[in-house]
Amino acid sequence: AGPKPLSGQRLVVTAGGTVERIDPVRYITNDSSGKMGFAIAEAARDRGAEVTLICGKTEAPVPNGVLVVKVDSAIQMHDEVMKRLPDADIVVKAAAVADYRPLHRAEHKMKKTSESLTLELVRNPDILQAVGEWKSGQPLKDKPFVVGFAAETTDVEKHAMDKLNRKKCDLIVANDITEAGAGFGTETNIVTVYGAEGPVEQLPQMIKRAVAERLMDIVLSRMNRGKEQ
Ligand code: C5P
Repeated sequence: AGPKPLSGQRLVVTAGGTVERIDPVRYITNDSSGKMGFAIAEAARDRGAEVTLICGKTEAPVPNGVLVVKVDSAIQMHDEVMKRLPDADIVVKAAAVADYRPLHRAEHKMKKTSESLTLELVRNPDILQAVGEWKSGQPLKDKPFVVGFAAETTDVEKHAMDKLNRKKCDLIVANDITEAGAGFGTETNIVTVYGAEGPVEQLPQMIKRAVAERLMDIVLSRMNRGKEQ
């Protein structure tokens, strides 16, 4: 076992896609595999952190040695994240949270009665935004270090910096999901990490575990820097 620089630190990480139910057998979700969040959970665990993994719909088996909390919807994920904030030192939001959910959830399986069907969707809570707002009201020593993810198809830097400022995160990990070997379902990712000052590090195509290791290095160095100030 190597050094344990995160020992005593509590890290909350979200992974996978949320599931927004339409009726008892149907739902809306997305292509997230959960692999990026799992890799972060493993990297943090191996550095000694006490890890809580809040996961929606995922493909791979969940990592060992971490507390796993399974959720379905964005609302459930929101509630599980929010209640752990007072105890969290680091929060990483790698989940692909649905922006909308069906307004109504049918109690029974819906029948095909008409030729067309309109599903009305309503906005889900933005969990990362809620974390940022909660953080603003806390004294400095109680503020967790917050990392968000951004999957973009155009103007990656502009959208990433906008998200960092709007959602008040410490770091944003942006990937251009139009590139082969990046984003949903793949074993590798191609990311650039942004901080308040702009781009921090542009990583080449790497397996997700290696991206997670590098990200943990960056988080650690920034947390330590914060303590020196
Ligand atoms: O704005 P966008 O959804 O692209 O932001 C991505 C980041 O925000 C990710 O870290 C994701 O986990 C988080 N997010 C969230 N709640 C939402 C939507 C996104 O926490 N409803």
